[in-house]
Amino acid sequence: MPTIEAEYDFQGATFDLDDPGDREIVRFILSQALYGEATGVYCGLSLHAARSLEAAKFYLRHARQELNHLEQFAEIFRLLDMTPAPGHWVIKTMSSHNHFYPLKVLMEHAIGEGMVLDIFKDVLLQTLPDDHPTVPLIKKKLRAVCREEIEHVEWGEKETRWVLSQDPSLATPFYGILELQMMFAPVILKPFRDKAQGHAVLEHLPSFVEHVNRRVWAQGKALGFVPEERPGLFGRGWAMFRGALLFVRSQFSGPRSTLDKTYLSELGFSG
Ligand SMILES: [Fe+2]
Ligand SMILES: [Fe+2]
Repeated sequence: MPTIEAEYDFQGATFDLDDPGDREIVRFILSQALYGEATGVYCGLSLHAARSLEAAKFYLRHARQELNHLEQFAEIFRLLDMTPAPGHWVIKTMSSHNHFYPLKVLMEHAIGEGMVLDIFKDVLLQTLPDDHPTVPLIKKKLRAVCREEIEHVEWGEKETRWVLSQDPSLATPFYGILELQMMFAPVILKPFRDKAQGHAVLEHLPSFVEHVNRRVWAQGKALGFVPEERPGLFGRGWAMFRGALLFVRSQFSGPRSTLDKTYLSELGFSG
């Protein structure tokens, strides 16, 4: 279960918001957040395809919350006197909508928003300097956003458990997808690797990435699709192949509504 408490300790390291180089890094992080929040409009598609009344109610709330986050981040840019940059292609790929419900809840909510939460609560809440005049207000906004992101991750975890209980054979491709995602995600950090030496915050990058890795693998184990022992090369390759196949299949899945067929039983009027 995610919480708002920091899990990685940056040991007091903060960005210098008067330094142009640091401002560029903070702008990059916030720009990815802003893009991610804009994808909240995908909730419209999720509402259309909601598998239950509970899911429909969740996606309504989710859409409202994400659009609010979008405006909160825009306000954070204004408070820092920064202009957003476009989203990075890795973020665009990782936050793209998937009509296939099992992958949607796993990739978008449980893993995707789980990593978003890592960045918001562990990186931004710790490394924005409290002595900057607008940072206390920014952190207040960020804490409110984090509390709602926790809800989104919890939904993803609950639905991933449900999906796996309905079809346990999804565990292997889910595991393969996670292997692929964890291989692919660090690409986004490449531009910062050269700047890391001697930089108070960036020097933490390798251990922070390790922390996120450990947390995500533990999350996958708790959800029941990551094996206790990491399989050998062949086992991993096989899982990644099945994961890639499932992902390709998911791209052919269209939006299908069910609540207009199941509303009577969902409302308790018939079995
Ligand atoms: Fe959000
Ligand atoms: Fe979210």
